Amino acid sequence: MSTLPIITLPDPLLRKASDPVEQVDAELLKLADDMLETMYDAPGVGLAAIQVGVPKRLIVLDVADEDDQPNPLTLFNPEILKIDGNETRVHEEGCLSIPDFRLEIERPARLVVGYIDRQGKPQELAADGLLATALQHEIDHLNGKLIIDFLSRLQRDMVVRKFKKAAREAPA
Ligand code: NI
Repeated sequence: MSTLPIITLPDPLLRKASDPVEQVDAELLKLADDMLETMYDAPGVGLAAIQVGVPKRLIVLDVADEDDQPNPLTLFNPEILKIDGNETRVHEEGCLSIPDFRLEIERPARLVVGYIDRQGKPQELAADGLLATALQHEIDHLNGKLIIDFLSRLQRDMVVRKFKKAAREAPA
């Protein structure tokens, strides 16, 4: 396994909608493993393939507490099948593609996600708590959506400008 470079704002790829995975093959499983290593190394609790520059519908997550056993999840073609109830959950979210930025976001608290597993089999996952939040955050990435989209247009433009300026000033 190896770690992969994570693309950051304002890379336009982050706004691209990712393509469905046709078949889970060795190459995609290797990508998933490298994404997990990249995520643990960062560290973060979730990563979408587009964040390493690959526009495929693939996400990896691990929301286990530091004291618990790791619980790596690999989901191909994840989609929200059902929002379970009206309850919401507020969480201060960060994003590995938007370094040093955090934002409180309110999302549905419980949901069911359908996906294809590492063996190529369709599965369903019922989630609440941090996993529910992280799944929605990562699935947003597959649709080109970022946490700054929860800001007003004015606030969002300010954040984007800051990252554009930092990118211009970064040593080549
Ligand atoms: Ni993110």
